[in-house]
Amino acid sequence: MSLYAIGDLHLHFQSELKAPGQLRDPVWRNHEAVFRRNCEGLVRPTDTLVLMGDHSWGRNMAECEKDLDYICGLPGRKILLRGNHDMFWDAKKTEPLNRSFAGKLFFLQNNYAAYEDYALVGTKGYTFEGPFYVRGGRIIGWDEEAERHAQKLIEREAERLRLSFEAARRDGYSKFILFLHYPPTSILERNSVFTAMAEEYRAEQVIYAHCHGESRFHDSIEGRHHGIMYRLASGDYLRWMPQRIL
Ligand SMILES: [Fe+2]
Ligand SMILES: [Fe+2]
Repeated sequence: MSLYAIGDLHLHFQSELKAPGQLRDPVWRNHEAVFRRNCEGLVRPTDTLVLMGDHSWGRNMAECEKDLDYICGLPGRKILLRGNHDMFWDAKKTEPLNRSFAGKLFFLQNNYAAYEDYALVGTKGYTFEGPFYVRGGRIIGWDEEAERHAQKLIEREAERLRLSFEAARRDGYSKFILFLHYPPTSILERNSVFTAMAEEYRAEQVIYAHCHGESRFHDSIEGRHHGIMYRLASGDYLRWMPQRIL
């Protein structure tokens, strides 16, 4: 039994592809077929595959049906995280979503999934991504209103993450793997409310996605930091090969 993760599939079987980078960069060419082939060669039916958000470009459930069908058809147990582009997933309606996909997909938010003696916890997360003002290659300031707005989203996501940890802890779990869609820190930080919570609950690993395109692959923490392993697992970074976590 193995645990794998990957994010940012950005499927568009029924919707318009909106990221021009996906059209230019050869890594996105036919990526649905490449990813499915990689999964079929790697993931066994008893394995768990965490898909870390930005599943679909669809603007609502009707536009995501084929994308979710594709995900249902991948091997293994599938656990989904909410990304910033997942318009089909109303943050307040995770439970109904879990009921309607019971036995096929599990949507991770305000809850947890068991994997051996680990609890898989997670939420979308958030981090301030600017706009920054740059002079001579150095950041000299940023949009304060955007930063205030980001701070509110960060606090809400931190509350959701705590619910996830606490649900697992109540059920007796003390070993955690933490999944975030957004990176845990901005390009200016080494620590955040998310790294603090990972340390508080002694998570063994923090896996994140959202950073795609080569210029963004090193925006946040990589490797060991305060005793915790941090890894980026966005799809194009991994060239569509799921990352083994455990
Ligand atoms: Fe994405
Ligand atoms: Fe994203």
